[in-house]
Amino acid sequence: MRIPFVFVARSCKAVHRLQQSPFFSPISALSRHQRISVLRQTSTHPCKDDRSYYITTPIFYVNASPHLGHLYSAVIADCFHRYKLLQGFDSKFATGTDEHGLKIQQAADTAGKDPLTFCTDVSERFKHLFSRCNVSYTDYIRTTEQRHREAVEHFWSVLWNKGFIYKGSYEGWYSTQDESFLTPSQVGDALDSSGKEIKVDWMKEENYMFRLSAFRPQLLDWLRGNPQAIQPERFYQAVLQWLQEDLPDLSVSRQRSRLQWGIPVPGDAEQTIYVWLDALVNYLTVAGYPDKHKQWWNVAHHIVGKDILKFHAIYWPSFLLGAGLPLPQTIHVHSHWTVGGKKMSKSLGNVVDPLERSQMFTTDGMRYFLLRQGVPDSDCDYTDDKAIKLLNAELADSLGGLLNRCTAPALNPAQVYPSFCPQSFPNQIGGRAVVEDYHMLDAVKHLSALVEQHYETMHVYKALEAISACVRQTNGFVHRHAPWKLDRRDSKDRRWLDTIIHISLECLRIYGTLLQPVVPEISNKLLSRLGVQPGERSWADVNFLPRYQGMDCPFEGRALGSDSGVLFSRLERQNVDQQKPKKTKKAAKVK
Ligand code: MSP
Repeated sequence: MRIPFVFVARSCKAVHRLQQSPFFSPISALSRHQRISVLRQTSTHPCKDDRSYYITTPIFYVNASPHLGHLYSAVIADCFHRYKLLQGFDSKFATGTDEHGLKIQQAADTAGKDPLTFCTDVSERFKHLFSRCNVSYTDYIRTTEQRHREAVEHFWSVLWNKGFIYKGSYEGWYSTQDESFLTPSQVGDALDSSGKEIKVDWMKEENYMFRLSAFRPQLLDWLRGNPQAIQPERFYQAVLQWLQEDLPDLSVSRQRSRLQWGIPVPGDAEQTIYVWLDALVNYLTVAGYPDKHKQWWNVAHHIVGKDILKFHAIYWPSFLLGAGLPLPQTIHVHSHWTVGGKKMSKSLGNVVDPLERSQMFTTDGMRYFLLRQGVPDSDCDYTDDKAIKLLNAELADSLGGLLNRCTAPALNPAQVYPSFCPQSFPNQIGGRAVVEDYHMLDAVKHLSALVEQHYETMHVYKALEAISACVRQTNGFVHRHAPWKLDRRDSKDRRWLDTIIHISLECLRIYGTLLQPVVPEISNKLLSRLGVQPGERSWADVNFLPRYQGMDCPFEGRALGSDSGVLFSRLERQNVDQQKPKKTKKAAKVK
């Protein structure tokens, strides 16, 4: 491998001199062994800090207001962030807005606003949504910020100096909607995923090209050596498949005369940097690039929707390899929310407003529904009905009902975490417990490991399914033994009654702890009601039913929290109907 050429292009002349740089050596010319060794230098993490974690959402286009699909990307990332914090990680969580490019320039024009004012307005709407929905980002980035511009300029110069950018010309189709260059076969498809015609423009320009084609062997090595890099598996396979096809060099700038709203190419004021290169660098900007990014960049994980996989799994790793930077640890891909089987879009009039829905279902209700119903592998169709049925069944009736029953003054007059009696529920059958009760304990004991496994792979719906199944088992346990029929005046009955409640509260404590990343407000309410202090809610505190193992339980005898309010109020279909958005003319026409 040639030693990188250290030079920052400052003028047009310098740019042209560098085009003829004799130092450029295509990576594809290296042997597989050499490539793997280059990859090791760039993608392994010698100074990786085990307790640091960095999670990102895509940055959102500001051409229109946020919709449910956007909130979904953000809530998945928020769930990861909260989960990592519970596990004791130092977690950084970045989100923000993608504000440059032709699409935004045109949207601002249409709105009759200057681009920056337009971007600020819409960016504020995203911030507002995130704060209403408890999306607890640590960093919010706008690509119009100066710190980002500096990072992009530096990144560009590094690629240029290493000979990975050259001046050429691009001729082909461009979709402004996707800010993407299309292959002839994509143009032939003519429809996007929402069933709309793709509007494309023929583009023929002098601009800068990135040597994408040179990176195919390295990308293949990276993926083959890291089968977990892109999840779920079907998207990993899709990327491998794309890499079998032609991978032409990529145009990474536009003529300034056509696109003014963007960062100028360093050293060439006649060209604007391609919006995707600009946008992708946001992940580095937040990490502290170019001087202070190591701590976070070595532990970066991206959440992306399936529509932007190519940009994250092919372009982005190639740019990073070109710049000599480590590759992201994982790219977690999710599928889309559709309405009536079609991807949400303004022109179809089927956009679901996430703010309005979080008012109807509560913030946690909205979050729970998205994460319980959303499956990363396949699209999911949204209806209010589904949401109401699911939330009523799982949050109001099952979880809320269990808490209510076990903390009701009739069963728990002292309002304490009652004692566990080992004679009533011994390690072996013989007390008053039956075989199903032992199965229930076993399921709850293994629940945190199972949930951890599902959270790690972004299968949050599976984690919630497992929790929900355990909640049902605990309800079954309470019903089976009907503690309300026991006689408190009889000492044996009282000990058994207290044991039933103790076990049920222990189960609820585990559910409340594990649910925190998904429904932080409900979990807080639940754990506070059980008297579990904020410092006792981490993953390490899970330790289910220590009294059953003969150990002390710190909660036994402790007073319950005073807030006995309803955990989640049942949703009435009527209220929701009244607030249903009216169909637009366009939507009616499409139907
Ligand atoms: N600006 C680019 C991303 C640049 S990241 C360097 C972009 N923005 S976007 O606003 O169009 O999309 C942002 C995220 O929202 C993407 O992950 C996308 O998949 C997601 N969603 C947009 N519509 C969606 C649904 N209908 N359903 C689920 N997620 C969807 O792309």
